[in-house]
Formats: sequence, C-alpha cells, structure tokens
Amino acid sequence: MKYLICNLKANKLKDDITLYEENIRNIADDSNIEFIICPPTPFLYLFQNNNYKLGSQDVSQFSNGSYTGENTAEQLSSLKVKYVLVGHSERRNLLNEDESAIINKIKKAYHSHMRPIYFIGEQNTSKEESEANKILERQISHIINEVPDYKREKLIIVYEPLWAIGTGLTPTLSEITTRINFIKKIIKEYYDLSLPVLYGGSVNENNIDELITVGMLDGFVVGGSSLETEALRKIYKKIQKNI
Ligand code: PGA
Repeated sequence: MKYLICNLKANKLKDDITLYEENIRNIADDSNIEFIICPPTPFLYLFQNNNYKLGSQDVSQFSNGSYTGENTAEQLSSLKVKYVLVGHSERRNLLNEDESAIINKIKKAYHSHMRPIYFIGEQNTSKEESEANKILERQISHIINEVPDYKREKLIIVYEPLWAIGTGLTPTLSEITTRINFIKKIIKEYYDLSLPVLYGGSVNENNIDELITVGMLDGFVVGGSSLETEALRKIYKKIQKNI
C-alpha cells in the first residue's frame, strides 16, 4: 500500500474548490494507493465523495464544548474525516505548537477513530547527519512513548525537512534514503513496529520519477503541486506505475 496525501493548506475559495473537488473525483482508480485529500477546514463538507479519503489539516486539543474557533475530533469525524495531520512544521513554527499540544491532538484523533499523520524533520539545511538523526529520534520517541501500545501501529510518519517545503528544493535521493532508513530502524528497534514512512517537501510531477525510486518510501505528501488537478493526476499515475 502506498499513500498519496494532498495538503491543500490555506488555499482556494469556495467556487474554485468546488470545481477542484469535481476534477479530482476520477483520479483514484487503484486500491493499492490510499489517496487522501486534506482541504481547508471550512470546505471539508464539500469533500464527501467516496473516490478519495478525507483528511483534516488540524484537530483541536479539546473535546466539544466552550472552545471558540476550535474544530474538534468529534466534529471532524462526523464529516467523514479519517486522517489528521499533526506536527506540521508550519503549525510548529507559525502557531507555536509544541510537543504537548501535538500529543493531545494525536490522542483526540485516536479517540474519534481517525489516524494521525505525524510530521517530523530537521529545521535547517545543516546536513550534519548525527544532528539530524538526534532531532528525528527525539521527535519520534517523544510522541510514540505517549501513545498506548495498541494504537501505535495506526500512526503514519512523514519525513519533511523544513527547508524543502514549498522551496522547490529536495534532499538528494541518498539523503532521503539515509533518513528513511534511520527512522524505520528506530521505530523497529525501540518499539518493534513497522509504520508507514512518507516523504514530503517540494514533491511535484517532475521529481516524483526520481523520488519513487527510493523503494522503502511508503508514499508522499504533496502541498503546492496538489493544487493543480493535472499535476496531481500525473503524480498519482506515476506512483501507480511504480507499485
Ligand atoms: P510542498 O508542501 O509540497 O508545497 O513543499 C508540502 C507540505 O508542507 O506538506
């Protein structure tokens, strides 16, 4: 099973996104690819078709109640949301989301039977391997230690270095291979788990050919390139060809 996760971020207005939803309905035709669309929260209700799975870009740390402006796990789940992004670097950096918030969000997602998609990655371009490994190890263990054993296998990990997001820059294939290997090794050695590990950061219809050659990757998160239906279709088809 490969994952293709589309993170639309805070893009598009109602008319445009209505058309977008119609255009992406016929992309997915392979049960070996889990095709997940994460629209902006106000438009989740427009994505109720069965040809894709629905993800939320965020979830509240709170349950239903007096929390002005929040979108709770129970509410998202009632809109057919099956996946939730947590720990994205844009939320860590721009909204000061710390690890305790991330842990609370993961718990809320589980409680409403949604799968958390957890983002990790080094923040700067420093390619110093031991430094990057230390960061990844900490980001993984802080979270997994807080998740009850029987729920751990539902976690999906995304390796997404901050400097690769929306910049057109990607790590080299050998850097990605090294990082993904390291992440999988830690998860296996420490927790005896084999979780899906995905790559995200400037994935597009051109570099996907190269990126899919990193065999141990379980899929991709696509931001900017998922906004264009035809680019997204190409990415899907290329992944499909390579399965
Ligand atoms: P990008 O975003 O594909 O535009 O780099 C990916 C992400 O931030 O999830």
